[in-house]
Amino acid sequence: MKLFVSEGNPHCLKVLAALEVAGLQCDVQFVNHEEKPVPFLSRPCLPALLLPNGQHLFSPNAICRYMFEVSGQECSEACDQWLEWEATELQPDLLQALHLAVLQGKESEATQVLAGPLSYLDQSLTKGTSPFLTGDVLSLADLVVCAALHPILSAPSLASGEPKSVRVWFDRVAASQSCVSASHKVLQGKGLQAMKSFMQRQPAPQSGQCRGGTQPCNNGPAEDEEGERVVSQEEMEAAAVTWGKGLNASTAATKRLHPILPQEGKRNILLTSALPYVNNVPHLGNIIGCVLSADVFSRYGRLRGWNVLFVCGTDEYGTATENKAREEGLTPQQICDKYHAIHASIYQWFQIDFDFFGRTTTEKQTEIAQNIFWRLHKNGFLVEDTVEQLRCEKCQRFLADRFVEGTCPHCNYPDARGDQCDKCGRLINAVELKAPHCKVCGQTPVIRSSKHLFLDLPKLEPQLEQWLDKTTSSGDWTANAKQITRSWLRDGLKPRCITRDLRWGTPVPHPDFKEKVFYVWFDAPIGYVSITANYTDKWEQWWKNPNQVELYNFMAKDNVPFHSVVFPCSLLGAQDNYTLVNHLIATEYLNYEDTKFSKSRGVGVFGDMAKDTGIPSDVWRFYLLYVRPEGQDSAFSWADMALKNNSELLNNLGNFINRAAMFVSKFFDGCVPAMELLQEDKKLLALVGWELQQYIQLMDKVKIRDALKHILSISRHGNQYIQVNEPWKKIKGGDAEWQRAGTVTGVSINVACLLSVMLLPYMPAVSRTIRDQLNAPDSCVSAMLRGTGAFTRVLDAGHRIGTVSPLFQKLEVEQIEALKKRFGGQQPEDEPAKKKTPTQNAASPHSAATLPTPAMDVNAGADPEKARQLTQAVAEQGEKVRALKAQKAEKAAITAEVSKLLELKKQLTLAEGKSPEPTPVKGKKK
Ligand code: MF3
Ligand code: ZN
Repeated sequence: MKLFVSEGNPHCLKVLAALEVAGLQCDVQFVNHEEKPVPFLSRPCLPALLLPNGQHLFSPNAICRYMFEVSGQECSEACDQWLEWEATELQPDLLQALHLAVLQGKESEATQVLAGPLSYLDQSLTKGTSPFLTGDVLSLADLVVCAALHPILSAPSLASGEPKSVRVWFDRVAASQSCVSASHKVLQGKGLQAMKSFMQRQPAPQSGQCRGGTQPCNNGPAEDEEGERVVSQEEMEAAAVTWGKGLNASTAATKRLHPILPQEGKRNILLTSALPYVNNVPHLGNIIGCVLSADVFSRYGRLRGWNVLFVCGTDEYGTATENKAREEGLTPQQICDKYHAIHASIYQWFQIDFDFFGRTTTEKQTEIAQNIFWRLHKNGFLVEDTVEQLRCEKCQRFLADRFVEGTCPHCNYPDARGDQCDKCGRLINAVELKAPHCKVCGQTPVIRSSKHLFLDLPKLEPQLEQWLDKTTSSGDWTANAKQITRSWLRDGLKPRCITRDLRWGTPVPHPDFKEKVFYVWFDAPIGYVSITANYTDKWEQWWKNPNQVELYNFMAKDNVPFHSVVFPCSLLGAQDNYTLVNHLIATEYLNYEDTKFSKSRGVGVFGDMAKDTGIPSDVWRFYLLYVRPEGQDSAFSWADMALKNNSELLNNLGNFINRAAMFVSKFFDGCVPAMELLQEDKKLLALVGWELQQYIQLMDKVKIRDALKHILSISRHGNQYIQVNEPWKKIKGGDAEWQRAGTVTGVSINVACLLSVMLLPYMPAVSRTIRDQLNAPDSCVSAMLRGTGAFTRVLDAGHRIGTVSPLFQKLEVEQIEALKKRFGGQQPEDEPAKKKTPTQNAASPHSAATLPTPAMDVNAGADPEKARQLTQAVAEQGEKVRALKAQKAEKAAITAEVSKLLELKKQLTLAEGKSPEPTPVKGKKK
C-alpha cells in the first residue's frame, strides 16, 4: 500500500490521522500538488491510496474507511452517516470558508459560512451524553470531521464564535496523537498560510448557493435576540406590493383529463412509487416510504402546474405469493386478486391519488418484459451459467432468496436474507450464505445445480457510470440513494441471475429455459412500464421519451440498488431509448415506538387498521409526514402523535384558521372586511411570504418533512399577529379601532386561504374543508403555488365566506393509551427479547432528533390549555419588549424584560411537551 499526499492540502490531514490510528504498514509519499499519482485521472487528485491489487482510492473518506476496515476496526452505520454528512454538507461550506479566509483574508465571513454546520454539530453533541460523535470512544467519524475542521478551528483568528460543545469536542479529538502528528506533517506549523498554494489551485466555490441539504437554506431575514426574524423595510414594502396585485385570474384550474400524456412546453413528470408486495398488508412504514410520499409530491407538482402522471400497482409474482396461496388454500391468482383489492382500498382510505393503480400479473407485463429480455439477448448482455441453488428437501422446492436465511459472508451478520444483508447492505447470492436454513421449516438446504441466464452488469457498467454521473448531478437524489449506489459500484458489479426455477412469474421465452420464470427483481420494475401500458396505449410517450420526461422514483432505501443499478442496466442494455430515473427519492426506516413493525408479533399499525382507530385519514397523513424518515430513521409514537395533533393541529393551525374565520362571521356578518395595511400587517405579509418561499424551495427538492414545518410556522406567525392586535377588543372601539380589527381579520383570513393550499398535498380533506368554509374560489388552488410563489390577496373585501366549524379534535390521553395497548407497542414484557436489526437501530447521528424522549410523552408535561395561555403571555411580553426597544429605553430595562420573555418561552416549550433544547439552528446572519 502506498499513500500519496501533499503539503498544505487539507484533505490529507484526515487520511494521515486515520492511517496512524489504523496502525497499518503503508509507504507515505509527499508529492507536489501537480503530480498525478492516479494514472487514469486527468486531474491531479490527492490524497490517493494505491492498493495492493493495483487499484487506487482517491476519495479521502473512502481511503479512511478502507484503512479502518483493513485494520479490523468497525465503521458503524452512524459513522458512515457522519462521513456522508462531512462530504456532502460540511465540505462545500468548508471550502468556501477556506477560500474566504486563506485567499481573501475575510475571516469573519468565513466564520459565518460555517455557522450552519457548526450548529448542527453542536445540536448532535449536546443532545446525547457521549463525549464523541458516535458514542463513548473516538471513532473514524470524529477523526474525519475533526480533521476537516482542523484548519479553521485551530486558527486563532477564526476560532471564536463556535459553540462551546463543539470546542470541547474538537479540543479533545485534536489533542489525540494521530491528529497532532497529521497536522504537523501537512500544515508544518504554518497554520492557514500553509494552504495558500493549494487553495489557489481550487476552483472558486459558489457562494450563497442553496444546496439541498439537511438544513433549509437560510438566506432569509436575520434574527434578533429573541429568535424572531428581523424584517427589513424593503421586504415589507415588497410584500405589500405583491399582496396588492391580487390573484392572477388567468391561471385557470386545469382539470385532469385521462389519459395524461406528455405535453410540449410543460414540465412532464412521470412519478412512480415502489410497487408494494401483494402478499401482505402494508404497515405505516411501507406507506410513508413510498405511496404517501409520492402522493404528496404528485399533488404538489400539480399545484405547481406540472404535468404529472403518478402510477403504481401491486408487485404480484414470486414465491412469497405461492406460499401465501398454499397457506390460505387459494391459487396464486386468487391471492393476488384478493390482496390487490385490499391494497387498493387501504390506499384509497389514505387518499393516495394515483392516476392508475395497476398490477404486475398482466399480459402487457409479459409482452414488455419478454421484449426487453430479447433485446438484451440480441445485444449480447445476457450470459449463461450453471448455478448452484439451495433446495429444501423437506419442503420439496428450490428456496427463493427470501426463504433462506443465514450468516452474511461479508460482515458475519447472523440474520442475513438470501438476497441482501440488512447490516452491511451488500447483495448476496443465497448459496454464499454461511449456515443457511430454510425459513419455512428451519432445515439446512442442499445445493443443486441448474442452467440460468445472467444480466451482464460488468459489461454494462461503463454506460451505467456515465449515465449515473449525469443523472445524480443534475437530478435530485437523496443522500442515501447516492451513497448506496456509490458503495455498490465501489464493490464492482457482478453478473446478476435473472431467471428462477419457479412457476409463479413471467415466463422466460427462450426455448432453452422454458421451465423458468424471470426473477422478480428483473421483472418487477418493468411493472412500472407495463402498468403505464395498461393505463394508456400511448405509454411509449412516457417511457421512451427521456428528453421530454422526468422520471421520479419513490422508495424505501432497501430498494435503491434495484432502481439505480439493476433496472437502469436492463433498460440501457435494451437500447430502446427508455426513460431512465432522473430523481431517486429514498426514505430511511420508520420504526414503531421503540421497536420494528412486525406482523407476526402483532406489533404496529397496519394499513387496514388505521381507519378503525377513529383518527381521520388526514391526521394520519399529517403525522406520518411530520416524522417522515427523511435523511434519518425515525419512529412512529402514539404519544407523540397525540402531542402533535393537540399542539400543532389543534392549538396552532386549527386555532388560527378557526379564529380568523370566526371573526369574519361573527364581527363582519360573514363578509371579508376592507383592509388598510399598516407596518404591522406588512411585516406579517413579509414573514408569511418568506415561509412560503422556503416551503416551495424545499418541496421542489422533495424535502417533504422539512417543508411541512414552514406551514406550521405560518400559522404560528398568524396566531401571534391576532394575539398582538386583539381584533376582538378593537371591534368594540371607535371607527379607527374598528377598521384595524377589519384589516387584521381580512389579512388573517387570506393567510388561512394560503394555508389551505399549502396544506393540500399533506391533508387533502382538511384543505378542501378550509376552502369550503372560506368559500374560496378553485382558482386559488391552481394559482397560489405557480412560479416562484408569492403571497397575494385572494379573498377581497366583500367576499362572503361559508359556514365555519372546528377543523380538528383533541386526542385524549386515555384514547391514546388504549390504542397503544391495542397495537402492541407498549408491552415489552410480552415481547421476546427484542432483536433489533442494526440498520434500524444503530445510534445514527441524527436519530436523537426524532426519537420520542420521555419529556415528549403526553402524560409527562404537555398541557395544551396552559400552552394556550402561555402563547398569549409570550405574545404580550414580546410586544412589551418591542415597545421598550422602540422607545429606546434603557438597556438594563430591556434586558430584564427580554429575560422574562425567554423564561416564558421556556415554560411554553415545556407546556407543549417538548424538551427545551435543542437551540434552533439560526440563520446565517448577513
Ligand atoms: N415489492 C418491492 C418491495 O416492496 C418493491 C418493488 S419495486 C419495483 O420492496 F420497482 F421493483 F417494482
Ligand atoms: Zn424447508
